[in-house]
Amino acid sequence: MNPESKNRLQWWQEARFGMFIHWGLYSLLGRGEWVFYQEHFGPEEYAKLADRFHPQHFRPKEWVAMAQDAGMRYMVITTRHHDGFCLYDSKVSDFTAPKTAAKRDFIAEFADACRTMGMRVGFYYSLMDWRFPGAIPHSVIQPDEVYLSEVEQAHAQVREICTQYGTVDILWYDMMHPHKADLWRSEELNRMVRELQPDIIINDRAGLPEDFGTPENVIRVDARPWEACYTMNRTWGYAKYDRNYKPPHEIIRLLTTCVDGGGNLLLNVGPDGEGEFPIESVETLRHVGRWMRANGKAIYGAGPSPISAPALGLASRVGDRVYLLIQRWPGSPVAFAWCGSKVASARVLSTGQEATIEQKGDRVWLRGLPDYPPDPYMNVIELEFDGEPRASDPAYA
Ligand code: GLC
Repeated sequence: MNPESKNRLQWWQEARFGMFIHWGLYSLLGRGEWVFYQEHFGPEEYAKLADRFHPQHFRPKEWVAMAQDAGMRYMVITTRHHDGFCLYDSKVSDFTAPKTAAKRDFIAEFADACRTMGMRVGFYYSLMDWRFPGAIPHSVIQPDEVYLSEVEQAHAQVREICTQYGTVDILWYDMMHPHKADLWRSEELNRMVRELQPDIIINDRAGLPEDFGTPENVIRVDARPWEACYTMNRTWGYAKYDRNYKPPHEIIRLLTTCVDGGGNLLLNVGPDGEGEFPIESVETLRHVGRWMRANGKAIYGAGPSPISAPALGLASRVGDRVYLLIQRWPGSPVAFAWCGSKVASARVLSTGQEATIEQKGDRVWLRGLPDYPPDPYMNVIELEFDGEPRASDPAYA
């Protein structure tokens, strides 16, 4: 990683947990964000949805408050998805919220709310726009010339989102179709972005690696910075019929698995056409927030640990502390091994209950802990070391 990228990424790697928001015209229909393509809408027919899009419950401060309460430290919102509809005021398109029934710049309101409340702001932008010639179907790739107007639009709109809304912390590209960085002039595009927003971090979906990778609905540990993005149910945009929400313990498992592997989690919410978060998302976020308030020390600024208890779960590390992220609570004792440093103290993070420590060579037993797991989702034991924690055999770690 080059040193500039490392510096830019510092706050983001400490944050570890963010909220993704997929919201747009498609949210009105409640059949996911791909409805334009999957139901083969004509562009004019789809555009009529804009006459009905005047959400009454769009209260971005409440969104930010819910993200903050869940322990999230940044948010990434769809400024424009594959359907081409801009939630923001684009001068190079008429298909925008301010120029249709809503008559509002939702991105301006969102960015203001984030900034007022100390939340980092990320903009998602889909390079591809289904309304353009050659964009549909994806299986057919046309000669490069066919895409030039779409590429022009992308350059102009990325410039707009990087100039009209103050500081943008993250640019989250998506869907470069066809997948040709030369055709999309991605290097030139990102050069412009960095001139306009010198501290911005950029994802890898404009065909160049840039600052971080974006495994989708999967956790893929990588040596370079990465962020797994996940749906809470199985759809990004609001889908009425998709009630397959992951329970809170599954979200916590995903988050801790990311942190254990040195990555971030960007967890999606798909508000409905009125701007309301689905109730299942609200409830899950509350549970996650409760867990984060008790256990956030194991998440923020944390990364992979050289010492762990793999039979019991995962582990993270911050400086001289290791956090055993226990999914399978064994009762007392909690035993682990391959520990090359002296454990000075150990406690259940959520309750503060101290354990007594027995350490023989590289084997450790923590005693005096409850027989039953104090937390229903995941229990964290904080181990404090004298100096840097090390595995007894680095090859093992
Ligand atoms: C995919 C989908 C898109 C979603 C994105 C999130 O690329 O096309 O709908 O926004 O993933 O990562």
